[in-house]
Amino acid sequence: MNIVLIGAQGSGKGTQSRRLAQALKICYVASGDLFRKEISEQTELGVKAKAFIERGDLVPNDITVPMVLGRVVEADCVGGVLLDGFPRTIVQAQALDNGLQDVARAVNCAVYLMVPRDILLHRLSGRYICKAQQHVYNVNTNPPKVAGRCDIDGSDLYQRPDDRGDAVQKRLDIFFNETIQLLDYYRKHQKLIEVNGNQAIDQVHADLVRAITEKVK
Ligand code: AP5
Ligand code: MG
Repeated sequence: MNIVLIGAQGSGKGTQSRRLAQALKICYVASGDLFRKEISEQTELGVKAKAFIERGDLVPNDITVPMVLGRVVEADCVGGVLLDGFPRTIVQAQALDNGLQDVARAVNCAVYLMVPRDILLHRLSGRYICKAQQHVYNVNTNPPKVAGRCDIDGSDLYQRPDDRGDAVQKRLDIFFNETIQLLDYYRKHQKLIEVNGNQAIDQVHADLVRAITEKVK
């Protein structure tokens, strides 16, 4: 089962994905996490991607597409993958379809996690993530048990550079002007489902599992 999770910045893709992938018994791949790992390891790819990400721009396709498609065909993803943050454009969606077709796989469904823009801004201003594995917290809505520490691995929490200043508005503009076009793309292919992301985290999880299981029977 190969699932695409579409949602604006702060809609809860990262919050939901790990648990959802476990429930569906598929591999979790987040393009943003892949980039942040490359940046922290100061690889050539990470050095190239860093400036785009900190400005809130999309990283160019010649860097992003091979990075994600390369990950999706690794051994642990052969049984299925939950993609968070990829594709974000029609060109990327077509590249994903072609890349999966080459290995006799396909996207089974695309889920849109719907959250109003004012809620997104509030969530992003309070978000902290952990240094070790990028677990997600929120000082207002989803705090860690001990301030500044990850509940799961004990590592320090930090605020992402692209959650500060102008980058937040720019990322939301890119989503609502460009990435949103993916909804029509997947609707046309009868693969789109929509889930209300503006509910308690556990309720969103339950709705996601039910909607996906229903669609991909
Ligand atoms: P990425 O890391 O994917 O960031 P993003 O798209 O900006 O999405 P976010 O991680 O901000 O939001 P999320 O939906 O995961 O929200 P979260 O669960 O954390 O990408 C970063 C950058 O990499 C991009 O800007 C771009 O430069 C580059 N990039 C990545 N993919 C690319 C691609 N395909 N092409 C080109 N460039 C690419 O939740 C947010 C907060 O809300 C948290 O604090 C959480 O605790 C809280 N929260 C979550 N759910 C709830 C709830 N139900 N109720 C209350 N609070 C909640
Ligand atoms: Mg995320």
